[in-house]
Amino acid sequence: MGRGPADGGLTVTGFSDHGRNGDESPPTALFAAGDISRRIESLAGDIARAMGPEFVLLCVLNGAFIFTADLARALAARGCRPRIEFASFKSYGSATESSGRVRLVGEFPGNLARQRVLLVDDILDTGRTLLTARMMVEDAGAETVATCVLLDKPARREAPVEADYVGFAIDDVFVVGYGIDYAEKFRYLPDLAHISG
Ligand code: XMP
Repeated sequence: MGRGPADGGLTVTGFSDHGRNGDESPPTALFAAGDISRRIESLAGDIARAMGPEFVLLCVLNGAFIFTADLARALAARGCRPRIEFASFKSYGSATESSGRVRLVGEFPGNLARQRVLLVDDILDTGRTLLTARMMVEDAGAETVATCVLLDKPARREAPVEADYVGFAIDDVFVVGYGIDYAEKFRYLPDLAHISG
């Protein structure tokens, strides 16, 4: 679990009242940008060793866009040259609760047959999104599929899926920042934070 202001004195960098409705608490710090960066360097080392230089890095939009950008550059520094693709999924539900139905939005990348694919998502929650995405990559004829998530909430799991690479395991809290939103807000925060409704 990350540090909060009470035990680490961590503040949420870049947060201001701008963009708030006034009907929710301000985000509370979870992982600072420096913590995220160090963890990504370590993950990139593990992934580069396992995947080698040539593979497809498939980013699950929208929440993983910053994570993917930083991970791709850390991988490049280790000699990797991934083809970067994108796929967008939506789960119906409220702003903080998925309804359980996951659907692809827009196109799914082509040319995955016989490729080694690394699926990258922001948060592994119930697992439905990652499971759906992984099955689609397998159905597209990929040679291997590995999965990487920035955050894992194991307590929330409902679908039979685990990630091969995990940035941080966290409790069941609603996370924002570092590309991850609440109702399209807070994606710009450089730190990961949590909100309490
Ligand atoms: P599932 O339940 O399919 O969910 O594993 C994965 C997707 O749900 C979103 N999600 C969150 N989004 N803060 C968010 O802004 C959260 O704490 C959170 N938990 C899950 C996210 O899009 C993730 O890819």
